[in-house]
Amino acid sequence: MIVPIKQIITKAKAGKYAVGAFNTSNLEITMAIIRAAVKQKSPVIIQTSESAIGYSNLQTLFSIMTNVGNTIGKSVPIAIHLDHGKHTKIVKDCINVGYNSVHMDASEKDYATNVRLSKQMAKLAHNKKIWIQAELGSILGKEGMVKLETGEINMKDLMTDPIQARDFVERTKVDTLAISVGTIHGHFKGVERVDQPRLKKIRELVNIPLVLHGGSGLSPQTFRKAIKNGVSVINIDTNLRLAFRKALKSTISKESNIIDPRKILNPSTEAMQVEVEKTIKIFGSNNKA
Ligand code: G3H
Ligand code: 13P
Ligand code: ZN
Repeated sequence: MIVPIKQIITKAKAGKYAVGAFNTSNLEITMAIIRAAVKQKSPVIIQTSESAIGYSNLQTLFSIMTNVGNTIGKSVPIAIHLDHGKHTKIVKDCINVGYNSVHMDASEKDYATNVRLSKQMAKLAHNKKIWIQAELGSILGKEGMVKLETGEINMKDLMTDPIQARDFVERTKVDTLAISVGTIHGHFKGVERVDQPRLKKIRELVNIPLVLHGGSGLSPQTFRKAIKNGVSVINIDTNLRLAFRKALKSTISKESNIIDPRKILNPSTEAMQVEVEKTIKIFGSNNKA
């Protein structure tokens, strides 16, 4: 059942477990995430990036998430969130269409601009009684990984400064904060560098729930440590994409005459469900619905 995100995240913070925020862009991924949450009796966040919205359109994707959430997912709390809204237009559109939470990601801008945009969007979100996430520090993707490897940039320079984080939250009045503590978007073998002391320091200075992005590829121990050190929401996308692709390759190679899209996609949907269930158990949100 779709519920206000405050209900889900406040309970996770108090209970010292994390809620998974899983990216979706279509019906199959949405069903996989929600079926997993139901099976594990877990709260869950389903989120769409700007490019996922561009893939279909906002109203269509919102309807899929709402309908699957309120039917298949009626027994568990589910919230709908905009992930990495880099443009104020899309943030406003998601607020207006009925999302439970939006991410104003102005982390690439200078500090003053990040504060200004996050504060502006926080006011709009709060007028509609929904939550807003902002981001401080940079969470890189594939291109950033290359720059890191060549030494063009240094991870330490990109990470969230704990004292600045306190100032940022006080000024913007956002509800959750995406922090940069060493994770990268995507799946990079051997890259596991969560700066746990920094995370702990941010937790000491900032009282709102913290969000860890770039969760794919981290080990269960790293997740558990990060949760212990104060993370309440963890974003996962790539792990589901990998599960989808692996199952799809195997389905098509095993049954070369298969043409029914449902039969082609079903094993992939099931594989993503397995991945989400596994993740929910690591995060400790199972049986918390
Ligand atoms: O953090 C980014 C998410 O994994 C979404 O990626 O823009 O390819 O949908 P996307
Ligand atoms: P991964 O793709 O690394 O899991 O990151 C997901 C994410 O942070 C979405 O915002
Ligand atoms: Zn992210």
